[in-house]
Amino acid sequence: MNTVEIINKKKYGKELSYEEIEHIVNGYVNDTIPDYQISSWLMAVYFQGLNSDETSALTDLMVKSGETIDLSFLNTTVVDKHSTGGVGDKVSLVVAPIISSLGIPFAKMSGRGLGHTGGTVDKLESISGFHTELPLDRFKEQVKELGIALVGQSGNLVPADKKIYALRDVTGTVDSIPLIASSIMSKKIASGADAIVLDIKVGNGAFMKTKEEAKKLAETMVAIGKKLNRETVAVLTNMDQPLGKEIGNGNEVLEAVKLLRDQEYSQDLYDVSVEIAAQMVYLAGKASTEEQARKLVEEVIQNGDAYEKFVTFIEAQDGDISSIHEIEAKNSIDVTTDGPGYISSIETQQIGEAAMLLGAGRKTKDDQIDHQVGITLHVKLGDALQAGDKLATIHTNMDDNDEVIQKIKGAISFTTTRVETKGSVIDVIQ
Ligand code: URA
Repeated sequence: MNTVEIINKKKYGKELSYEEIEHIVNGYVNDTIPDYQISSWLMAVYFQGLNSDETSALTDLMVKSGETIDLSFLNTTVVDKHSTGGVGDKVSLVVAPIISSLGIPFAKMSGRGLGHTGGTVDKLESISGFHTELPLDRFKEQVKELGIALVGQSGNLVPADKKIYALRDVTGTVDSIPLIASSIMSKKIASGADAIVLDIKVGNGAFMKTKEEAKKLAETMVAIGKKLNRETVAVLTNMDQPLGKEIGNGNEVLEAVKLLRDQEYSQDLYDVSVEIAAQMVYLAGKASTEEQARKLVEEVIQNGDAYEKFVTFIEAQDGDISSIHEIEAKNSIDVTTDGPGYISSIETQQIGEAAMLLGAGRKTKDDQIDHQVGITLHVKLGDALQAGDKLATIHTNMDDNDEVIQKIKGAISFTTTRVETKGSVIDVIQ
């Protein structure tokens, strides 16, 4: 097969066959096609797109490029979740024990945070002793025995995505819907998911800034799921403000614990967590309607089963549950408003960047993070404030916090008239 012909075919908007996409993917993984030809092909895809058959073929071929995790020994539907990334997103920490306490195995490989968004593995590592790197055998055994395990990505899963993503990053081809969709879905399928619930964040703190873009991504991923026999549901959720009130690592774990243990929560975090969990319960076949699934989810939060499962899970991975308490940064500094008004917008990405400046996140993937620092955001869109009211508290180990304080203040805008606010669950695509 001729690589230049395949590039030209896509350049002119023609449909590629499975074999042609196979030539591209395998050629790149096996080093028989150079970076410059794949870059050119990616740019052609960026402008011409891929149809549903092509996107599914690309996903399938990326899955086949490496190892896959076989969870069929569980003899049940394995449902996974994935978030496209947000600020204050601790939904996996809440949902994992809920699902598991309802008898549905939760076997998840999660990522680390980069840039303004956080990662579940970093958050869990704030718990003293907790291990996020388990050998595959122990991971599987723990899922079989306890019904829950959450680890960092390991092994040689989807090497084609690793290589292609690195090239996309430096060739201006990251923000292509079929490339994003196939990248995410290939990793979910390779890690053993039979069914997938996607939490697609929409808004100024998310990858997808508008509902239209998010819906397109959702539909593309749901279509891949249908073609590759993995039932997929996408929930569009609001990222026009951080989710919940804590942004960081240790403080986010504590917020998840407060929801599960004390039923003390911010409504947006509760609503998104319940919706994602309910969709997972429904896909797992444990409820005959979504409404019934929601009831089951709320029941295990209220009766403490989910929190009990959370403790079991943390201890199974050598974590010390007593280490989850108020954050232990050197200083806590309140950030207050200058004047009265209603909160009309929160630049969520800037809040995520402020947390990163404190050391809670990474600028580059080799940066170390400080698990004990972060931001407590005291306000939500639409809140009415008086001059001097608290906007946020920063938990910091730095001496000079001016840049962080200014970033937080600059991220929050006010108006003199009452503001209408949206719910945190925007749409469900299935
Ligand atoms: N996250 C991924 O895993 N892949 C993409 O392409 C974009 C975001």
